[in-house]
Amino acid sequence: MEEPRIIEFPKICDRRGNLSFIEGSGADFEGHVPFDIKRVYWIYDVPGGQSRGAHAHRTLQQLIVAVSGSFTVTLDDGQEKKEFFLNHPWMGLYVPPGMWRNIEDFSSGAVCMVLASKHYDESDYIRNYRQFLKFSNERRKNKIS
Ligand code: TYD
Repeated sequence: MEEPRIIEFPKICDRRGNLSFIEGSGADFEGHVPFDIKRVYWIYDVPGGQSRGAHAHRTLQQLIVAVSGSFTVTLDDGQEKKEFFLNHPWMGLYVPPGMWRNIEDFSSGAVCMVLASKHYDESDYIRNYRQFLKFSNERRKNKIS
C-alpha cells in the first residue's frame, strides 16, 4: 500500500514575492505528482470550527496543498491515524486511496487546494466510517494473502 507523504514543490523567491509550481507527469517527464491530474478543486471561506472531509475514497489519489493559511489533515488507514499540519504553499500532502480523511482547524483565509487523479465520482466515496473499516480490513487481507 502506498504511504501518505509530504511532497515539496519548487520555490522561486525574489523581492517581488515567491512563486511555486506543480507539474504533472508525462510519458517522458516525471513531474511533482505521482498520478495524472484529472481534477483540481479548492475549499475556502471555511467558518471557524468547521471541518471538511470525513470520508474515504476507494481508488482516488489526491494531493492536498494549503495554498493560503493553514489546516490539519488527519489520515486514518483503519489501524493508525496520522496528523499533518499544512501551512506552506510550497508543500503538499499525497493521500493514497483507502484513507479516511478529515480536515480541520482551518485558519482564517485558508485555501485548501486538492489535485485529484480522477473526475468527480460519488461511487468512489465511502462516507460511513464502519463501512470504511470493513473496506480497509478486506483490502489489507487481500494485500497480505
Ligand atoms: P465533498 O467531497 O463531500 O466535500 P468534503 O471535502 O467536505 O467532504 O463534496 C461536497 C459537495 O461538492 C458534494 O455534494 C459533491 C460536490 N463536489 C463536486 O460536485 N465536485 C467535486 O469535485 C467535489 C470535490 C465535490
